[in-house]
Amino acid sequence: MTTVNTGKLVRIAGPVVVAEGLTGARLYNVVRVGTNRLIGEVIRLEGPEAVIQVYEDSSGLQVGSPVEDTGGPLTVDLGPGLLGNIFDGVQRPLPALAAGPDGREVDPFLRRGVELPPLNPGREWDLTFVVGVGELVEPGDVLATTQETEAIEHRMMVPAERNGTVTRLGASPATAADPVAWIDGQPVPMTTTWPVRTGRPVARLLDPDVPLITGQRVVDTLFPVARGGSATIPGGFGTGKTVHEQTLAKWCDADIIVYVGCGERGNELAEVLEEFPNLTDPRTGARLMERTILIANTSNMPVAAREASIYTGITIGEYYRDQGYDVAVMADSTSRWGEALREVSSRLEEMPSEEGYPAYLPSRLAEFYERAGLVESLGRTPRRGSVTVVGAVSPPGGDFSEPVTQYSLRLAGTFWSLESDLARRRHFPAIHWTRSYTLYQLDDWFDGRVADDWADQRHWASRLLGEVEQLQQIVQLLGVDVLAPAERITFQTGRIIREDFLQQSAFDQVDAFCSLTKQYWMLRVIRYLHEQLLGCLHEDTDVDELIGLPIYDLVARMKSWSGTEAEDQAKALLEAIDAELSAA
Ligand SMILES: Nc1ncnc2c1ncn2[C@@H]1O[C@H](COP(=O)(O)OP(=O)(O)O)[C@@H](O)[C@H]1O
Ligand SMILES: [Mg+2]
Repeated sequence: MTTVNTGKLVRIAGPVVVAEGLTGARLYNVVRVGTNRLIGEVIRLEGPEAVIQVYEDSSGLQVGSPVEDTGGPLTVDLGPGLLGNIFDGVQRPLPALAAGPDGREVDPFLRRGVELPPLNPGREWDLTFVVGVGELVEPGDVLATTQETEAIEHRMMVPAERNGTVTRLGASPATAADPVAWIDGQPVPMTTTWPVRTGRPVARLLDPDVPLITGQRVVDTLFPVARGGSATIPGGFGTGKTVHEQTLAKWCDADIIVYVGCGERGNELAEVLEEFPNLTDPRTGARLMERTILIANTSNMPVAAREASIYTGITIGEYYRDQGYDVAVMADSTSRWGEALREVSSRLEEMPSEEGYPAYLPSRLAEFYERAGLVESLGRTPRRGSVTVVGAVSPPGGDFSEPVTQYSLRLAGTFWSLESDLARRRHFPAIHWTRSYTLYQLDDWFDGRVADDWADQRHWASRLLGEVEQLQQIVQLLGVDVLAPAERITFQTGRIIREDFLQQSAFDQVDAFCSLTKQYWMLRVIRYLHEQLLGCLHEDTDVDELIGLPIYDLVARMKSWSGTEAEDQAKALLEAIDAELSAA
C-alpha cells in the first residue's frame, strides 16, 4: 500500500481514534495508524480532523503517533486461491498470519500491523485462454480460466471500466500478480481488487425463481429460500442458529459457500475447520472445503473489524456470482455485527437511536441483505449467477422485538423463526412451523421438478399444522377427549408431521440431508394415512384404537430411508397402510 499523506494522532478512544493533518483524505479511505501501522478506516471527516475506526487491537497507541492515508478505500483481492482459505475481517490470510515471521506458530490475532497478501503470491496457476489477440473485449468478458479446485473453474474477467482490444496474452502458468492479458497495451493482472462497501456491477437483476435446495425438510418443503434471495434466522441462545448455518453450508446446493463467523466463539469456527476438510460434497464428490471460504472474526478479535467482515464476505460472494456461480453467504451472527456498530457509534458520541444502536443500523443492514440477488453478469456472453444471503440474529433474551431482528425481518424474504421452547423440548431444527414464512413463489419449480402435487401437499401440511395449533388450545384447556373423532385424527397427524417429518437431526448419518424425492414421499405417506383414517371413521369407530395402530411405528422410521430407495419404500408403506386399515 502506498502512502499519500501523513497526519498525527490527537485522540484515542478504544477502537476509535482521531487524527489531524490528513488533508485530502476521503471518507472510507484506509489509513495506517501508529508506529505499528495498524489498519484503520476513515469513518468521519470534521474540519481538520479525521475520525478513524481501527481494525486491530489499538492498545498502546499514543497521541502524536503518525497516521498515514493510503489514498484508497478498503478493498479485497479477487483471484484464484480464495477457495479453501480462511481470512480475517480485512482479508488477511489467517493460516499465513499464524505461521509467524520466522515460521514458528504464533497467535494470529496478536500480530499487529502485518501486511500479508491475501492470496499466496508464489502459487502458480495453469491458464486456459478464452480470448485471442485482436479480440474486442468488454467488462465481464472471461479472459482466461484455471481449475481453482477439483469442482470449480475460476474465470478471470475483464474488470469494470476496462474495454478495448486484447493486444497480448499472458504466460501460463502464472502467479497472482502476473497479467492474464493486455488490453490496448495495458496489463490486466490475474488478481483484481474491489472496494468492499460497493456492490459489483451486473447487467441485469432477475427475479429469483429457483429454490436453494438445503436437504432440510422444514426449509425445502415449508419455507424455502430462493437462489439469489435472503433469509434471516433469529433465535435466542442455544436454539440452533449456528448448527443451522453450518448445516446449510454443508448441504445446500450452492456452488460456493462464504461463511462469515462474526463475533461468535472461536471454537465454533474451529469445528468447521476440522469438519469440512473431511466432508465430501454429495454432488461433486470433492472436499467441501474446496467450495468454501471462511471469514473469521470471532469474539476474541477486535470489534471494529466485524463491521468489515460482512462486506468482505459478500464482495467475495459477488465475485464468484459474476463468474456464473450460485453462491451462499452465511453470516453468524449479524447481532454481533450490530453490536460492533453500536460500540463504534457510542465512541463517536453519536446520538443513539433504538436501544443504543445508531440511526443508520437499518441502512447498514440493508446494504448487506440487498446485495443478495440472481443476476445476469456483464459481458458479451452473460452468465447467470446468484448470491443468497442467510443471516443469523441473536436477540438478547430471545426477544424478537429488538431492532436487529425487526429490521432483518423487513429485509429478508424468508424468515425461519427459532423458538426456545422447541429447542428446550429437543425439537430440532427449532424452526416454528406457523410463525415462519417465505415470500418466494417457488411452487411451480417444485411441481415441475419433483412431483406435480408438491405444492398441493405442502399447502395441505401447512393448513393442517395451523388447524392443530387451534386444537392445541382447546386440548390444553379441556383435554384431548373433548375433540371429535376427526379432530383427534387431525391432532395425531399434526404430531406425526412435527415429529416424523419436521424434526431432523443435523447429526444423523442418514437424515442430516433429505433429498426432495424423499421429502415428497414422506409427506405423501403421512397424508395418505391421514386421509385413509378419516375415511375409516363411522359411528362406532374406536379412535384410540386407530391412532394406536402399529403402522405408526413404520411411519416413524421413514427418516432412515436412503434417498434412492425412498419411492419404493413409500409405495410399500402405502400398501401396508391399506392392509392394516382393512384389517382394523
Ligand atoms: N438441527 C439440529 N439437530 C440436532 N441438534 C441440534 C440442531 N440444531 C441445534 N441442535 C442442538 O442445539 C445446540 C445449540 O445449537 P447452536 O446452533 O449452537 O445454538 P445457537 O447458535 O443458536 O446458540 C447444539 O449443540 C445441538 O445440540
Ligand atoms: Mg451460535
